[in-house]
Amino acid sequence: MADPGPRSLLYEGIMLPALVHSRESLRYAQLGFQVRDSDVFSVTYPKSGTTWMQELLTLIHSNGDPQLARSVPSWERVPWLEQTTAAGFLENRPCPRLISSHLPCGLFPTSFHGSNAKVIYTVRNPKDICVSLYYYSKMASFLEFQEDFGEFVELFSAGKVLFGSWFQHVKGWLGLRDRLNFLLLTYEEMHQDLRGSVERICQFLGKPLDARALDGVVENASFQAMKQNKMCNFSLAPRFLLDQTQSSFLRKGITGDWKNQLTTAQSENFDRIYREQMQGLDLSFPWDQP
Ligand code: A3P
Repeated sequence: MADPGPRSLLYEGIMLPALVHSRESLRYAQLGFQVRDSDVFSVTYPKSGTTWMQELLTLIHSNGDPQLARSVPSWERVPWLEQTTAAGFLENRPCPRLISSHLPCGLFPTSFHGSNAKVIYTVRNPKDICVSLYYYSKMASFLEFQEDFGEFVELFSAGKVLFGSWFQHVKGWLGLRDRLNFLLLTYEEMHQDLRGSVERICQFLGKPLDARALDGVVENASFQAMKQNKMCNFSLAPRFLLDQTQSSFLRKGITGDWKNQLTTAQSENFDRIYREQMQGLDLSFPWDQP
């Protein structure tokens, strides 16, 4: 692994933003944090739809009522497991705790294994993640940024970006996909059929909603509604940390944006690495279809 750079922390071979992570917070997440059976984790590789899932979980638990989603920041509603803010804060949350994490499976709390806590793992086309991460790194002063997009694609392909390799993250978590307490969702299916995806989440959580509540969830978790909601569009973050004049946090919210960004050569090279890395995985994703 190359030098992680001044804004990053290298932990167990994974590069993380040093602003909000420390060795102590990561050790706490892995070894100190006590998982409860009622916990619900939303796990994602960065830029896969984390904020979207935070909004969906909040709205589902509020029966479609947007009051909480519009009055409390997303990072307090569905707080981070591995960040320096977690210790003390998570213990005092009422059940069921809704918790976000970008951790790879191998760094997840040891007390999760053997518990009945639920994990929703959201995956997204890695080429779209690469584009989204590029623009996010451009606006976020606390992240390393490689301005040359071609070089950025190479760093991403090699896993030399925050939270390490997309391939390792996805393959690690998919190892749990046969467990009853694990739900795999794709950004693409949420995009294509948000209502159907919400119904799947509700069924998984054992929290059925009536048609009106479902309408409330779907309306308030649309890209347009979230873009207007200052509790999730990160307009509360100071400009010296997130400069939204460079790019928006809720940027485009579409599938296939990579086609506007990657050259044919960059795309073909990525596809080759993708095939090598994902071979033997008995699963196909929406983006695998030509
Ligand atoms: P883009 O940069 O491609 O627009 P994360 O929350 O994991 O950081 O992911 C951010 C990405 O999810 C951004 O992608 C953002 O626009 C997209 N996103 C967030 N909410 C969304 C929604 N309601 N519908 C579609 N995309 C959404």
